[in-house]
Amino acid sequence: MENGGDQTRMCRHIAIIMDGNGRWAKERGKIRSLGHKEGLKSTKRLIQHASDRGLKFITLYAFSTENWKRSEEEVSYLMNLIHLHLRQEMKFYKKNRIRVRFIGDLSRLNPSLQEEMKSVERDTAEFDGLTVLLAINYGGRDELRRAVQKMIDSGISRPVTEADIESCLDTAGIPDPDLIIRTAGEQRLSNFLMWQSAYSEFWYSPKLWPDFGPEDFDEAVDAYFGRERRFGGIK
Ligand code: IPE
Ligand code: IPE
Ligand code: MG
Repeated sequence: MENGGDQTRMCRHIAIIMDGNGRWAKERGKIRSLGHKEGLKSTKRLIQHASDRGLKFITLYAFSTENWKRSEEEVSYLMNLIHLHLRQEMKFYKKNRIRVRFIGDLSRLNPSLQEEMKSVERDTAEFDGLTVLLAINYGGRDELRRAVQKMIDSGISRPVTEADIESCLDTAGIPDPDLIIRTAGEQRLSNFLMWQSAYSEFWYSPKLWPDFGPEDFDEAVDAYFGRERRFGGIK
C-alpha cells in the first residue's frame, strides 16, 4: 500500500497483536475457548481484507512462548483451532494467492501440527499475493536466543553485524513491520517482534479482537499515513 512514491510512506508490512478473545467471551458469560473461535473468524476476515487492499505482509501473533502458562484445556483448544484452520482453509489461501509462513519455535508443537504447517508452507510457497506470517510459539527473546545460537553454531569468527543477526531471525528476508496494531486496549509488546519493531509505528484499539473489523484496520492504516517517520533523522 503506497501513499505517494516516498519510501518512508509505504506500508508493506502490518503486524497485529490479536488480543481480547477471553474478555469477549467473558462479557457474554461464555468460556474463553468460544472467544478464540470467534477471534479466528475475525482473523480470516482481516486476512481477506488485507489481501484485497494489496498489502504485502501481515504478521499475526497467534500464540506466544508465554501462552503455555494457560490451562491445558485452553492451550489444546487453541492448537486444535490452528490445526483445523490450516487443514480447512487451503482453498481460501489458494483462491487469494496468499502465501503462508510461520515464525516461532515450531519444534515444541505437536508433530502432526508441524506436518500440517510444513505442507501449507510448501503448497503456498509460489503465491505472489499477500504473505501471512503466523507467529506460533513465538517470543521475541526466544527468537533472538535462537539467532545467537545459530551464529555460534555457524562458527562465525568476525565481528557480528546487524545483517548477520537479521539473517538468523525467523523473519529473515521480510521487511520490518511498518505498523503494529494491538487490540483490547493493552499497550505493550508482550514479547512480539522485539528486534523488528525498532522503528514501527504503533496503533492501539480498544476493541476486542473478535470485534475488530476491516473498518478498524482501515482506520489504523489511515492514521499510519498521517504519521511522520523520521528514523532518527530530521525532516
Ligand atoms: C488473545 O486473546 C489470543 C491469544 C493470546 C491466543 P486472549 O486470550 O489473550 O484474551 P484476553 O486478553 O484474555 O481477553
Ligand atoms: C499476546 O497476548 C499474545 C498473543 C496475542 C498471542 P497476551 O494476552 O498473551 O499478552 P499479555 O499477557 O496480556 O501481555
Ligand atoms: Mg490477552
